[in-house]
Formats: sequence, structure tokens, C-alpha cells
Amino acid sequence: MELEINKINITEENAAEHAALLAELIALSAEWASEGSCAGYYPNDASEYFDKELYIASADGKTVGYALGHIKVLEEKTSYNAVGEKAFELDELFVTAAFRGQGIARALFRFAENDVRGRVDVIGLTAATKHYKQLLKLYIEELGMSFNHALLVKRTERVGAGSK
Ligand SMILES: CC(C)(COP(=O)(O)OP(=O)(O)OC[C@H]1O[C@@H](n2cnc3c(N)ncnc32)[C@H](O)[C@@H]1OP(=O)(O)O)[C@@H](O)C(=O)NCCC(=O)NCCS
Repeated sequence: MELEINKINITEENAAEHAALLAELIALSAEWASEGSCAGYYPNDASEYFDKELYIASADGKTVGYALGHIKVLEEKTSYNAVGEKAFELDELFVTAAFRGQGIARALFRFAENDVRGRVDVIGLTAATKHYKQLLKLYIEELGMSFNHALLVKRTERVGAGSK
């Protein structure tokens, strides 16, 4: 397999030039949504790829995965940043099922990290997946991120709706 990673800048103005790529990205996003692995993930439309930091993995000329993020100024101080620092927020990382387990997600992340290096102070992401153990292994053990916080939820049954 010949793997290639490229950064692509898609805007509303040049979207027509990238119509074929956008169709592939939208199909990958739909595949992700239909897997049902990440709570609250809905398929993207084309506009969600506009004006983003977008990295494409292609194998033998076919788009098999992508990383999508944006750079923002952090307005509030937290345990990991000062006011006014910049963050690259990784919004989406996806590799199509048939190409998983071959290091493509790692390669995408590292490519993105190299690309934003020098432009941001921190890289962050929020993850929601049923496969959280594997995902933490990927981000923390393999990609050098540190754990900051987690939101855990358990729904309970309410007895006697309307009562306090
Ligand atoms: C997570 C995902 C991008 C990994 O892609 P990949 O190309 O197979 O990953 P790599 O081969 O580079 O790295 C493999 C590592 O990913 C992790 N991983 C494997 N399957 C995973 C899964 N279903 N979900 C999350 N992480 C997984 C493991 O840590 C694995 O390490 P190992 O091979 O040493 O066991 C891919 O499984 C995917 O697209 N899942 C659905 C979308 C998703 O969950 N995205 C991340 C949420 S932000």
C-alpha cells in the first residue's frame, strides 16, 4: 500500500475544484456516523470542511482517512493554558474500517502535529467513543498526549414522574 498524507485547504470559493474529494470525505463521515461508535456524531456536509486544518490520507490514490481541526485563541486560563494562547483543536480523526490497524491515524496525527508546530501552544481534543480504552492508548501512550479530564454519564430511571 502506498500511503500519502497531504494538507488541503478547502474554502467555499474553491469547493468546486475539490468536489470529488469532498464527496469522498462526506462518504467517510457518513460511514463513521453509521458505525454508531461515537455518541452524538452526525455526518458532515461539505461546509464542515471549509476553512479548516484538513489532512487527507490516501492509499493508492483513494481517500481512506482524514484529520480535521481548527486553530483558536484560548480566551480563558485553564490548568493547561494561559489566556491568549493558541490551540489546535482536533475535531475529527477517521480511518475507514478496511484500512485500520496500519498506523494511518498515527501518521495523520503526527503530520497535523508537525504542521501546527510553531503556530499553536497546545493541541487538544474531545473524544467520544465506545472504544475509549483503545483511543486512550492511541492518544496517550502512542501520541504523547496527556489526560486532562473525562465526563462520565449514567442515566437512571425516575420513579413517579412529576414527583420531586
Ligand atoms: C480511532 C481510529 C482513527 C484509529 O485508526 P487506525 O488507522 O486504525 O489507527 P492506527 O493504526 O494508527 O493506530 C492503532 C491504534 O488505534 C487504537 N484503536 C484501534 N482500534 C480503535 C477503535 N476502534 N477506536 C479507537 N481507537 C482504536 C489502538 O490504540 C491502536 O493501537 P494498536 O494498534 O497498538 O492496538 C479508527 O479506529 C477510527 O476511525 N475509528 C472511528 C472514529 C473514531 O473513533 N475516531 C476517534 C474519535 S476522536
